[in-house]
Amino acid sequence: MIKTQRIAASVVEKVLAGASLTAVLQALWQLYPALSSQQRGAIQDLSYGVLRFYGQLDALLGLLLKKSLQDRKLYFLLLVSLYQLEYSKTPSHAVVDHAVSASRFLGGSKRIPGLVNAILRNFIRQHECLLQQVDGNDVGRYSHPQWWIDKLRTQYPHDFQAILAANNKRPPMTLRVNQRKISVADYQALLDKKEMKTQLLWCSALQLVQPVNVKELPGFSEGWVSVQDAGAQLAAPFLNIQDGMRVLDACAAPGGKSTHLLELGQVALTVLDNDATRLARVAQNLERSRVKAARLICGDAAYPAQWWDGKPFDRILADVPCSASGVVCRHPDIKWLRRERDLAQFVVTQQKILNALWLILARGGQLLYVTCSVFAEENQCQMEKFLCHHSNAQALSLSGMSIMNGQLLPNMYHDGFFYTLLHKT
Ligand SMILES: C[S@@+](CC[C@H](N)C(=O)[O-])C[C@H]1O[C@@H](n2cnc3c(N)ncnc32)[C@H](O)[C@@H]1O
Repeated sequence: MIKTQRIAASVVEKVLAGASLTAVLQALWQLYPALSSQQRGAIQDLSYGVLRFYGQLDALLGLLLKKSLQDRKLYFLLLVSLYQLEYSKTPSHAVVDHAVSASRFLGGSKRIPGLVNAILRNFIRQHECLLQQVDGNDVGRYSHPQWWIDKLRTQYPHDFQAILAANNKRPPMTLRVNQRKISVADYQALLDKKEMKTQLLWCSALQLVQPVNVKELPGFSEGWVSVQDAGAQLAAPFLNIQDGMRVLDACAAPGGKSTHLLELGQVALTVLDNDATRLARVAQNLERSRVKAARLICGDAAYPAQWWDGKPFDRILADVPCSASGVVCRHPDIKWLRRERDLAQFVVTQQKILNALWLILARGGQLLYVTCSVFAEENQCQMEKFLCHHSNAQALSLSGMSIMNGQLLPNMYHDGFFYTLLHKT
């Protein structure tokens, strides 16, 4: 555990210095190929956990320290240890012992192990009182940056606490059953036999009670199922595709929605993304799903002149780049890496993409605007502006589900998404 604590502390340090958690972990697995899958799991668990509750843990540490810590490595090791004491099942004496031993590897003053011991034991002793104090401050209570909390409080006065709580939960694992290969009921029965309990959320969305390694899923490599959040599974059906249509998935990688579109209809699909590395993942996903091939293009959705063949599309899926504020439970680093000013940049990019795609949609065609954001600037405000400037655009109603004004809020079953289906008259 000493090693996993120390490595997790270094992961969190890198993320809080500005790197993405996924990228840091990927680099780490390459650097330490000898780590066992158990050690990897533990490092991942600790890093995700600390970032999920960073606001609270940092506030607790602030209360426990007499003055601010100069030694950053020690600071991150203490954050990891506090997370373990508060949220893991590891016995507290083991957490403290390992933290004290790990601190000896940090170098520095001989007094450090004693300091670590004292801080962590004080936390255990004063637990209730410290938690109460931390709860008195927004960042300590909700573990999100203050600007984020303020924005949600303004935009969702009734729901902001539920959204923040959902963001701090571990995400569920949801499958999308490829009904061209097997019915949902038959697949659920197969999982049942393997004692993998599931809950049917909607259409083909089967949620696992306990996440599993995809290798354990029957028919995964044959494309019987894909892993996809239930909220994301709404996109492809919303587009009302019919066989023979020309369809563009404009910001497609890694291809979760592209494969779904191909499962739903025999369409001529163009898959576009401006990131070649991510586009390669679409190719892998298409291959695994064994759905009819699509045309893959690396290009910028905001500049169709560079890649478009001149034939209008009947349907366009615009799953635009966004703040990703609806998928925080899967990417807890996002809330600490985003700055409020980033939003304005996303809004401009989204607007450029949307305006450009509108020109290549056929008359009578439909475009689905999607974000995985909960911020109104990227969603309702963006759509209001678009409708105001395009007299040939109508927003069609999206019925069913718990979508209000296009917004699906994150909860324990799914991530947060925004959907608007635009019809070109
Ligand atoms: C939200 S992700 C798409 C997720 C994908 N639709 C799925 O369901 O698997 C947004 C994607 O847009 C791509 N992107 C960003 N800016 C773009 C642009 N100007 N043109 C095309 N793709 C872009 C990113 O590389 C990223 O893969």
